[in-house]
Parts: sequence; structure tokens; C-alpha cells
Amino acid sequence: MARKKLMRFKWNEEVHNLFQPEKENYKAYKGKWNEYFKNDHPIILEVGCGRAEYTTGLAALFPENNYIGLDIKGARLWKGSSLSVEQGLTNTAFIRTKLQNLEDFFLPGEVKGVWITFPDPKPRESEAKLRLSGLRFMNIYRKLMPAGGKVFFKTDNKVLFDHTLEVLQDPSLKIANLEFTHDLYQSDLLAEHYGIQTTYEKTYLNQGVPINYLKFDFLPI
Ligand SMILES: C[S@@+](CC[C@H](N)C(=O)[O-])C[C@H]1O[C@@H](n2cnc3c(N)ncnc32)[C@H](O)[C@@H]1O
Repeated sequence: MARKKLMRFKWNEEVHNLFQPEKENYKAYKGKWNEYFKNDHPIILEVGCGRAEYTTGLAALFPENNYIGLDIKGARLWKGSSLSVEQGLTNTAFIRTKLQNLEDFFLPGEVKGVWITFPDPKPRESEAKLRLSGLRFMNIYRKLMPAGGKVFFKTDNKVLFDHTLEVLQDPSLKIANLEFTHDLYQSDLLAEHYGIQTTYEKTYLNQGVPINYLKFDFLPI
């Protein structure tokens, strides 16, 4: 294995801010992330975070919140974890997991916001359950967030975006304050992104692809 890769694996094994399966405390903070962060600040997730640009970018801007990036790929999580240490960010954490297991890490009501950043589109109907902005995952986020919990979603993929808008009409979700744009960079909503761009976003922007964005709140059930 390449030396760089080995060093990153070793980092992931030893660093305190990254939780992965072989670690003893992997699921230890479910319901008590306040103990890990040593405060009661709101917890905001970035699901399928890759290199976790929103997790680290927002954490630097908003020290009054805690940000947790989740992804199945350790090599990508290394980036957010090491950048956090480099920048002295104490309000970030990273979890290597399949998002299907999100409820192993958080209790209902423990999460205040979720960013879904450029998820894999999973276009085949047989893959609908794997879409991070599909009904199955929305219901999981719903469970973990109290009334007023916020969801933010960015994608280059207009088909996935329009499908997500349909999903949000499902009465079981009970949402409010939906705002969206098919071209974020020509929209007033851009102001709330603080110049943060993800790795995938940069690639699509370089190709001239418009970026779709939406946000909404969950109402009380
Ligand atoms: C297209 S990449 C986007 C990465 C990053 N958010 C960005 O915008 O640059 C999608 C990411 O989601 C992760 N992912 C997809 N499905 C997942 C799942 N079910 N559980 C955990 N991670 C998942 C992949 O490993 C990958 O890093």
C-alpha cells in the first residue's frame, strides 16, 4: 500500500475526532455528544460528507454549533479530520458509517440540522432507497430532529433534485419554509453559503453545470 495511504489509515486509527468501527468508543456518544464536545451546542450533520467542506467550513464560522461529518469512506474523512486538527477546530467530529445506520449514533431530538451535499444520484428505481435525499432517509432525519430541525440539500443533478421536491410533498414529513433554486449561483440564497464549495461542487461548476439548492424546516409531528 502506498506510504501516504498508510499514514492516513494510521491517522484515522489514532485521532480523537474520527469514530470508526474498530474503535472502542465508536458508538459511545449516542445521546451524549455533549460529553464529547463538552458543551450543549446544537449538532448539525453533513451526510455523505466526502472531504467534509461544509463540516469544517461552517465549524470555523460558527463556533456556537457542533458539526459532524459522516461518510462510509475513511480516506475522504481523513481530510476533514486532519484539517480540523490543523485549524484547531474543537467543534467537529467525523463518523465512518453507512448512513443506513445513522440511528446507531444519535437519539431522536439530538440533531438540529442536516446538510446533504452532492449525494450519489442513484438513478435506478431499484436504488431509490439508497438516495440520501429520498423518503427513506428523510424519515430517518425526521426522527432525529425535533420540530424546527433544518435540512439543506445541494446537487448538480436536476432529476434527483426534482425527485426530492416530490418526496417533500409526502404528508408524513410535515415540512415548512421550503425555499429552493435551480441555479444557486444566480440566487439570493447564495449568501447563506459563505463561499463554501464541496469537492464535487467545484468540479460541476467548472463544467458550467447549475447547482440546485433547497432548504426547509420540519414542523412538530
Ligand atoms: C458524490 S460524493 C459527494 C461528497 C461530498 N459531499 C462533496 O460534495 O464533495 C457522495 C459521498 O457520499 C458517500 N455515501 C454515499 N452513500 C452513502 C451511504 N449510504 N452511507 C455513507 N456514505 C455514503 C460516498 O462515500 C461519497 O463520499
